Amino acid sequence: MMAEASRPLPKAEPRKGLRVLAGLARDRSPLTALTLMREWVGQAFEIPAPNFRPAFFVGPEANRQILITDRTLLSWRNASDPVVRLLRRGVLVVDGAEHDRYRQIMDPVLQRRNVLHHIPDFWRYTDQVTAAWTEGSTQDLLVEMRKLALLILMGATFHVDFTPHLQRLWQPILDLIDYISPGLWVVWPGAPSSTRHRKAIEAMDDYLYSIIRQRRDRLAESQIPPAPSDLLGVLVSTPDMTDDLVRDQLLTMLIAGHDTSTALLAWAFYLLGQHPETQQALQQEADQVLGTQNQPPSADQLTQLLQLEQVIKETLRLYPPIHVGNRRATETLSLCGYHVPQGRRVMYSIYLSHRDKEYWQEADSFCPARFARGQEEKTPPFTYVPFGGGPRTCIGATFAQIEARAVLARLLQRFDFRLLNGAQIHPHMGATLEPRPGVQMQIRRR
Ligand code: HEM
Repeated sequence: MMAEASRPLPKAEPRKGLRVLAGLARDRSPLTALTLMREWVGQAFEIPAPNFRPAFFVGPEANRQILITDRTLLSWRNASDPVVRLLRRGVLVVDGAEHDRYRQIMDPVLQRRNVLHHIPDFWRYTDQVTAAWTEGSTQDLLVEMRKLALLILMGATFHVDFTPHLQRLWQPILDLIDYISPGLWVVWPGAPSSTRHRKAIEAMDDYLYSIIRQRRDRLAESQIPPAPSDLLGVLVSTPDMTDDLVRDQLLTMLIAGHDTSTALLAWAFYLLGQHPETQQALQQEADQVLGTQNQPPSADQLTQLLQLEQVIKETLRLYPPIHVGNRRATETLSLCGYHVPQGRRVMYSIYLSHRDKEYWQEADSFCPARFARGQEEKTPPFTYVPFGGGPRTCIGATFAQIEARAVLARLLQRFDFRLLNGAQIHPHMGATLEPRPGVQMQIRRR
């Protein structure tokens, strides 16, 4: 449809707008407000925040248009966003030929055959983190899963053991995540970064440039090409990838690759804590497939964990770690018949698409069987998009799913988890959708 013929984007009516604000004040979560807007206004609306006013879209038609058919009219890069200032020329925040080039370099490293090679790493780091859990102790699974996701990301994709640096760089990493989370910059673009954030960037840069130098030296000395599963080695061996460009890709993968897995695993534990019968069913499945083996599972064993697969998919549906995709209209366009002027920020809501009552039965209920193989609930393509879609689909989707299976299988094989603070937990919109204030669980060996 021609842009001229399209309708203006609806806004919340003032009376309903007040109810949205009341919902916001009550739950302190913009998710409540967005859910109400979807209910009252529809699948496309404008958020009337000062200086911000994004065009918000929900549902398969919009997802397909944004991710596939009209993707060249929508850029990722919003130069003043902190995520762009932090990741500079990282693959997540550049567009066009530059984006495609970085994908070409990194895609092969994260293909299934290379990821399968990491199953022993997923297993070993899980055992390393749980070695500190004493019988009957209470652990915050949000914290523990972050430790694990960091060790795995650095160990598996960069071939670097992060253990000696975990404690020292823990706070800087949390500060970087805070830096790119929704904050003052949303209504004040270009707000200066705080000293805390600047120090965190410095600390991370010192570390990243040092591992880049070491890997360049090692590869030059040994004259052996990097392993195909070694992202850092592949990046430094690529002509024209300067230290700065390699740093930008590493930091991108570090943030995008660990904060998301942290959220997925922590939400999975929250849901298993709320549904002990599902936890038991997964334990029985792990017992049948893995028994008491201490060796890492084969790829074939992991694919036999079908109920676990359903729980992971249902967790990603209910609590998609990346709950919204962010773009900018490079030209005036018509999206789902609505007028979107050039320069406008466009967002596609993964969270709302995953809970839309028009497409899902009992959209807000935890029901892993809706993903049972061969009997999947039928939804239109692009309704379920936990990893986005099209050429910008998540580069780590295969990695994340195999990682989640291996980690959860090992944990459920060895431990019982009892949720202690279920009533307090709510989704927090940070850089990812996180269970706050954390997932406190009592741990017992099986
Ligand atoms: C449960 C885990 C994960 C989830 C739910 C997730 C989700 C997503 C989503 C929805 C996008 C697309 C966003 C958009 O359209 O703007 C994306 C992109 C991306 N993800 Fe993931 N991700 C996960 C894990 C990972 C991992 C493990 C890595 C790295 C090893 C990674 C690296 C990236 C990168 C670099 C991009 C940008 C791709 C591009 O623009 O070409 N992610 N992810």
